[in-house]
Amino acid sequence: MKQDFTILGIESTCDETSAALLKGGKVLLSNVIYSQIEEHKKYHGVVPELASRAHAAKIATVIGEALQNEPIDCVAFASGPGLPGGLMVGRVAAETLATYKQVPLIGVNHLEGHLFACDYENGEVQNRLHFPLIALVVSGGHTELWYVKGYGQYKVLGKTRDDAAGEAFDKVAKLLGLAYPGGPQVSKQALLGKRDAIAFPRPLLPGTWEFSFSGIKTAVSYYLRDHQNVNIPDVCASFEQAMVDTLVTKTLLAAKKYKVSYIAVGGGVAANSLLRQTMQERAEKQGKEVFFVDRKFSSDNAAMIALAAYKKLEYAQRTGQPFKANIDIDPNMKVRSW
Ligand code: KG4
Ligand code: ZN
Repeated sequence: MKQDFTILGIESTCDETSAALLKGGKVLLSNVIYSQIEEHKKYHGVVPELASRAHAAKIATVIGEALQNEPIDCVAFASGPGLPGGLMVGRVAAETLATYKQVPLIGVNHLEGHLFACDYENGEVQNRLHFPLIALVVSGGHTELWYVKGYGQYKVLGKTRDDAAGEAFDKVAKLLGLAYPGGPQVSKQALLGKRDAIAFPRPLLPGTWEFSFSGIKTAVSYYLRDHQNVNIPDVCASFEQAMVDTLVTKTLLAAKKYKVSYIAVGGGVAANSLLRQTMQERAEKQGKEVFFVDRKFSSDNAAMIALAAYKKLEYAQRTGQPFKANIDIDPNMKVRSW
């Protein structure tokens, strides 16, 4: 690849419409994000039909803003996992542009994007990740633990059996009458509460690397049903502590079992301060280093999609292996090694 090889990334898997330009695998020229939060707020969650319409309405403007009249050498888009309508909008936009510009089109896994987003620092790609590592990808739609030997070399250890961590935050916020998205709202309230006020469960599911958060959410709903004059900050603080303890304990157990010195945490929930602080403190005690995604890149964005595409192309070039363009959209796409 030439040194100033420029990739246009497109992200439309959930409720952010985003486009970004990454030059030379290093310099982020733009990362335009249109968040649909206002559209979904009154429903306390993402409404797929509204999301598709908003992506269709915004994608051309977002891409136009990101392009800045720069020449591009490749178009990349998130081809899954995600909501079918959003994926289709992303694919059509990406393919139209790639065909018009006569440049290659490449689909990348959105969740890989969340991991690679950890490589951005101060708006540039710093290649901070060290391998092998255990990756915790925590977002509104997914919660997964991976053993990652290197870029593109994955073993998925476990996923959530039910709610994703962010989804649990959003559902508990709804139960408490707090706004969507719930994570930041619950965190804000939690700062005023006692973390040991209520003993919510820590579902560790020993013997598996899976998660299950619906039990914590149900415990909160039973608590609210059975108590009057509930102290909302105490509920938030105790719930957040239970979520964080579960995520951190399982991630550190995996790091120990797989004998890795590094951990990476990406996805929307990685913005959570208690998660960052607790993971950092407990990992440090075990001699592990943690790479948290920069908060600017934790929620869905196209910079992470452009970087994932760059890494894939670079890997194919280095190893001489044919790279898979992967442009068929797949709402349930799994993470696979390259
Ligand atoms: O990665 P993301 O933008 O979208 C998906 O791919 O799902 O993640 C959004 C999720 C939402 O569920 C939101 O409540 C959660 O991330 N979130 C947080 C925080 N900030 C965002 N959860 C806990 N604490 C936060 N500070
Ligand atoms: Zn995401």
